[in-house]
Amino acid sequence: MPDYTYVIDGLHGRRIVLGVSGGIAAYKAAELTRAIGRLGADVHVVLTEAGARFVTPMTFHALSGNRAWTGFQDGEMEDGMPHITLGRRTDAILVAPASANFIARLAAGFANDLLSALCLARDCPLLIAPAMNRQMWENPATRRNVERLQADGVTLLGPAVGEQACGETGPGRMLEPEALCEALLAFFTPKLLAGRKVVLTAGPTFEAIDPVRGITNSSSGKMGYALATASARAGAEVVLVSGPVALPAPAGVRRIEVTSALQMRDEVFAEMTGVDVFIAVAAVADYRPAEPAVRKVKKSGAALHLQLVPNPDILAEVAALPEAPFCVGFAAESHDLDAYAEGKRQAKRLPMLVGNLLGDGLGGDENTVVIYDEEGRHPLPRAPKTYLARRIVERIARLLPAK
Ligand code: C5P
Repeated sequence: MPDYTYVIDGLHGRRIVLGVSGGIAAYKAAELTRAIGRLGADVHVVLTEAGARFVTPMTFHALSGNRAWTGFQDGEMEDGMPHITLGRRTDAILVAPASANFIARLAAGFANDLLSALCLARDCPLLIAPAMNRQMWENPATRRNVERLQADGVTLLGPAVGEQACGETGPGRMLEPEALCEALLAFFTPKLLAGRKVVLTAGPTFEAIDPVRGITNSSSGKMGYALATASARAGAEVVLVSGPVALPAPAGVRRIEVTSALQMRDEVFAEMTGVDVFIAVAAVADYRPAEPAVRKVKKSGAALHLQLVPNPDILAEVAALPEAPFCVGFAAESHDLDAYAEGKRQAKRLPMLVGNLLGDGLGGDENTVVIYDEEGRHPLPRAPKTYLARRIVERIARLLPAK
């Protein structure tokens, strides 16, 4: 296991207070506790009395590794003031689920239990993930309370629309733990690309030989998807033109699925209006069969010759546009990385290129890369692709011309 102590990724070093109020979605707060912990945060759970009737504090204690709190008198906090002490040195309080009743108390500034007092006494951001029946959510009283909280600077996460525990369908479902984790990560990301449009390509392309066969490569799409996620977290409008991969569309990203290089090029050019940054991560096939067979090619004893024609270089074409966006290329080389990568950057006239040695990153979750730009070469430590993506986005934001 590599040593990542120098790599601050996910929620490492963050302290999160998770508030759990009374609603059936409290059962998902158990999974959420684990998920936030897995991202590296130190999680402290505070339940309302109603919340503790759905899931016991013992469950949260076991999952977070920290004692879970319900009341003021609940165990010994050295100074006897958990509503103050718990909220200090904390990066954010997330209340999930936030019931209609808890939201009403919060909006009115009540402090009649530990969780509401903690929220009132906080000196950190507060995020709430509502969970309630759709009529309760749409009731003017709840609307008023939520608007008031938002005006007070509270961040609203969700709710989602869908099937509810009561059997009805509509708005009021709590966001899933995975979506809440993504919202937390985005919340802590500086909005370096706010107001910018980023278009990316990712994954392999598949060039048809006949209706069932084709030429492709083993690109997993992970680096491109990580960059799309990092751009979205940094506040950009993100379009991801993706070849066939097994990854879900990242949150807050518009994904356009394509198969071949020609389709990828068409979709990229259709998205070029108003684009600020183009990041070409896709492993585009250099050649495609000149004439794919309409019917499945039959096996015979004779040799089969496939004629291949070169595919367009999407990145080079975008970089050559009269008003080209800030273009970032990727290069995987088997040797002499510096010479080839910097050479490619200049040949394609790119302000930035990210290089890595082949075998280092393909398919895996980690990579070792070097960023090449006008200011020279910038090697990054071996790290998860999610971390590298964040660093690359920071570098792009630094070099991007002002609007
Ligand atoms: O020249 P090479 O294929 O090594 O360049 C790699 C870079 O160019 C990557 O950023 C890749 O996404 C992009 N590319 C492209 N269209 C191609 C081939 C490569 O956009 N047909």
